[in-house]
Amino acid sequence: MRSVENAVKAIDELALFGGKPMFAEPLHVGRPNVGNRQNFELRVADILDRRWLTNGGKYVKELEQRIADLVGVKYCVAMCNATVALEIAIRALGLSGEVIIPSFTFIATAHALQWQEITPVFADIDPRTHTLDPAKIEQMITPRTSGIIGVHLWGNCCDVEGLSEVAKRHGLKLLFDSAHAFGCSYRGTMIGGFGDAEVFSFHATKFLNSLEGGAVVTNNRELAEKFALMKNFGFTYYDRTDYIGTNGKMNEISAAMGLTNLESMDDFIAVNRRNHKQYAEELAGIKGISLLSYDGREKCNYQYIVLEIDQGQTILSRNQLMEILHKENVLARRYFYPGCHRMEPYRSYSPHAGMLLPETEKLVNRVLCLPTGTAVNESQISKICQLLRLLVDNGTEIATRLNR
Ligand SMILES: Cc1ncc(COP(=O)(O)O)c(C=O)c1O
Repeated sequence: MRSVENAVKAIDELALFGGKPMFAEPLHVGRPNVGNRQNFELRVADILDRRWLTNGGKYVKELEQRIADLVGVKYCVAMCNATVALEIAIRALGLSGEVIIPSFTFIATAHALQWQEITPVFADIDPRTHTLDPAKIEQMITPRTSGIIGVHLWGNCCDVEGLSEVAKRHGLKLLFDSAHAFGCSYRGTMIGGFGDAEVFSFHATKFLNSLEGGAVVTNNRELAEKFALMKNFGFTYYDRTDYIGTNGKMNEISAAMGLTNLESMDDFIAVNRRNHKQYAEELAGIKGISLLSYDGREKCNYQYIVLEIDQGQTILSRNQLMEILHKENVLARRYFYPGCHRMEPYRSYSPHAGMLLPETEKLVNRVLCLPTGTAVNESQISKICQLLRLLVDNGTEIATRLNR
């Protein structure tokens, strides 16, 4: 293990018990990666000089082409964020009634449906991949079901074959929320070309950001045309609309940021990968803490450091560990607690949904995400790992003191 100065040495020194926090400044999960500042500034200057700020500008077009090439799909439509991109994709696909999604996802997956009065029906996940379990979907299908939205959580691909097979058998549309999965592959094929369409997020917290932003990708020309019209109010010509649309356009400054960050994408991934390797090495052997691994044979963005906490061994619960880390200024996050089915309005609509979601219910109390990305350095990671080791080694004593 790397030796680190100022690491917490004894439990009396924990900030929880009145000691000085380990870090003077908060360490966030998802602190933005920023590519070459000068390149960004040059692009922004050009945008201002040309006074073309949005509406099909050259930087948005260039970004769309770069994404389509990188992912290996025919069409990419950039949008203002992934939530609106999901809403548009859902509408363009003609989804209605009920759509099956995991509950273990960011709330936007569910809200994008409910916003259009389509009911999200939550199905359970495979505890090994944290993604939808195709075997659990069949029992959720009713005559009102029109589609499935799989979520490639943490960049880990869903069981695409399993989901496609169920969708095909029941005549359902298949959309993927790929907010986490830009730059990731599945069996050697880049994520983006599966199902009817896929949606990426380039939000500031994603490893590749366009400040705010998202994109829908597909190989279906007709669908791509619909996405492009719907994100621009449905305008087919200056003064003509053929169906309802919204304002989902990405602006030029966002596209400039996206293009600038794309230039550094390999560097961001290399840092994430190195961080993940270091966490894996330094957390190894801590009882009750396991780190989600990524398939080394696939392309992966290593965007998330996902721990699973087994309280039976750590004694301290996931929430207690999180609270102690927060006191030390490590702002670990319990993504995606408590599960969409336990958040409003879904909890009121279907108070017993959890009965069919045993794996989700377990996982929401186990997951803890740690800081990574270009804003976190090697020494900080070592300190975080040493802290976690100290907490687990002294779990019983700390828990006793907490309960006093
Ligand atoms: C799984 C998932 N879907 C959708 C979104 C929404 O993305 P955006 O913030 O770009 O709207 C997020 C954002 O974090 C997400 O994690």
